[in-house]
Amino acid sequence: MVLVSLVLKHAAPYKAWIAAVFVLQLISTIASLYLPSLNAQIIDKGVSTGDTDFIWSTGMTMLTVCLVQVATAIGAIYFGARTAMAIGRDMRRDFYRKVDSLSALELGRFGTATLITRGTNDVQQVQMLVLMTLNFMVSTPIMCIGGIIMALREDAGLSWLVWVSVPTLFIIVGFLVYLLMPLFRQMQDRIDGINSVLREQIVGIRVVRAFVREPFESERYRTSNENLTRVSVKVGNIFVLMFPVIMMVLHLATAAVLWFGGHRVDAGDMQIGSLTAFLQYLLQILMAVMMGVFMVMMIPRAVVCAERIADVMGTESSQAGPSEPTEETPTHGRVEFRNVTFGYPGAERPVLDNISFTAEPGTTTAIVGSTGAGKTSLINLIPRLYDPQAGEVLIDGVPVSRLTRDQVSSVVGLVSQKPYLFSGTIASNLRFGRASATDDDLWQALRIAQGEDFVKSKEKGLDDPIAQGGTNVSGGQRQRLCIARALVATPRVYLFDDSFSALDVATDARLRDALGEATGDATVIIVAQRISTIIGADQIVVVDDGVIVGRGTHEELVDGNETYRQIVESQLSVEEVA
Ligand code: CTP
Ligand code: MG
Repeated sequence: MVLVSLVLKHAAPYKAWIAAVFVLQLISTIASLYLPSLNAQIIDKGVSTGDTDFIWSTGMTMLTVCLVQVATAIGAIYFGARTAMAIGRDMRRDFYRKVDSLSALELGRFGTATLITRGTNDVQQVQMLVLMTLNFMVSTPIMCIGGIIMALREDAGLSWLVWVSVPTLFIIVGFLVYLLMPLFRQMQDRIDGINSVLREQIVGIRVVRAFVREPFESERYRTSNENLTRVSVKVGNIFVLMFPVIMMVLHLATAAVLWFGGHRVDAGDMQIGSLTAFLQYLLQILMAVMMGVFMVMMIPRAVVCAERIADVMGTESSQAGPSEPTEETPTHGRVEFRNVTFGYPGAERPVLDNISFTAEPGTTTAIVGSTGAGKTSLINLIPRLYDPQAGEVLIDGVPVSRLTRDQVSSVVGLVSQKPYLFSGTIASNLRFGRASATDDDLWQALRIAQGEDFVKSKEKGLDDPIAQGGTNVSGGQRQRLCIARALVATPRVYLFDDSFSALDVATDARLRDALGEATGDATVIIVAQRISTIIGADQIVVVDDGVIVGRGTHEELVDGNETYRQIVESQLSVEEVA
């Protein structure tokens, strides 16, 4: 079973703690079972005969047993809780590592919302079950079996009460649990649903407001919320039923013991003390059954959660790659596309079709093409965000799939089309590229990226805070910080995916001048819409609808390539007017 293997795998390091819990539970349960019989002895041998010495001595024994019981119970719960929390922590850690290792493909298949729920809420459910199991797994069966033995020892004539009440309780609670099972799975799915809607709405709140879509979006949220509420209410209804039913069984059992036991005492077949002890044992047994069923009740939900966690844990990254370096880390950065064909999963036709070109170190390659032509897809293949279906992407003649993730990220610096910054400070973001970078290195990178002035104008300079996603700086500032971040890393291959689009023409020009010096003999690949950005490139690759339709310098293409000329003309007319 998925749940068992998941838990056992994570419980392995805590064997000693679990053993301690078991031993403590054992002692505590035996002590609990001993108490009613001592009590019976006091009544039958002490009270009825007026033997005060016996009452005192047995009373002291009871007190000692009681203290032992309390101490061991506290110890058991303490170690149980620690173990369960530790297992939960390890599970979250492993989950995080797994998610971290997955490629964009698998992450896209799961989706962010469900990954967040699985990594938090689902782990929590499993952790709860572990806690319950540790608390009751030993005590419940011992309490049940031991309780029955002790009860029968007190008075075998009333034993039929045990055989009737225990199965009754078991069947009733078991039936309710059976009703609960499917509801728990629904509940987990609907938590995913509400997370996903909420996440999208918070991320897109500005767009929602701008298009006055609030009523529509509120309705969408309301529906998800209603759906979750409806299952929760169903679950609640069953619980509402469960407690009175359990209580009813307990009280009926008590009444029956007193009624039938009373008659037996009257007839002289049973002693008063035995009757009280029998009643206590019966209640202990029923309580144990109830706890056992509660534990069992948590299992279905935890099973669902465990399956959802295991689903992610069992996913292998489609881009496994070597974990240890098997190839020399490329030192030049010569990028070569060899007959590369790539399509997104589920798409009918490839986005890139038989792409071949080479970008030499020390030169700049520009990639142009209309929107949706496949430029970003092409760039993303170089740091291996995706793998091509056919053909190979090579750096210094080595396929990127044969390099480790660390090697790829040390060689390739990507400034993506959607620049993203992390919460922290400007400095902490820039040091993503290279943790050991000095402040001077950071300033140098900012100078090249044309970001020096605005960072200097910030109150705390490099230590100025950045919000999650970089939402507290402007689009152009974010682009420049991302460019600086790539520069700090000093990779062999620089990839700029439309990274100058938010800059004005003058800043763009200054940046490219500075960049030319900074990148030196590294390979530079630039995706850009603006002709002025790419005009000086050593090589321009024109992409249209996933195929290369032209390659050469600006001068060569402007005369010989229809697609390129159209792009140039559409922009020149605009710029001439401006
Ligand atoms: N595409 C897709 N799934 C993705 C990303 C893109 O199916 N996760 C498709 C898009 O629908 C598009 C094609 O892939 O038709 C190429 O996308 P892209 O490489 O992003 O195009 P760009 O040339 O980068 O377009 P732009 O200039 O707008 O950035
Ligand atoms: Mg793009």
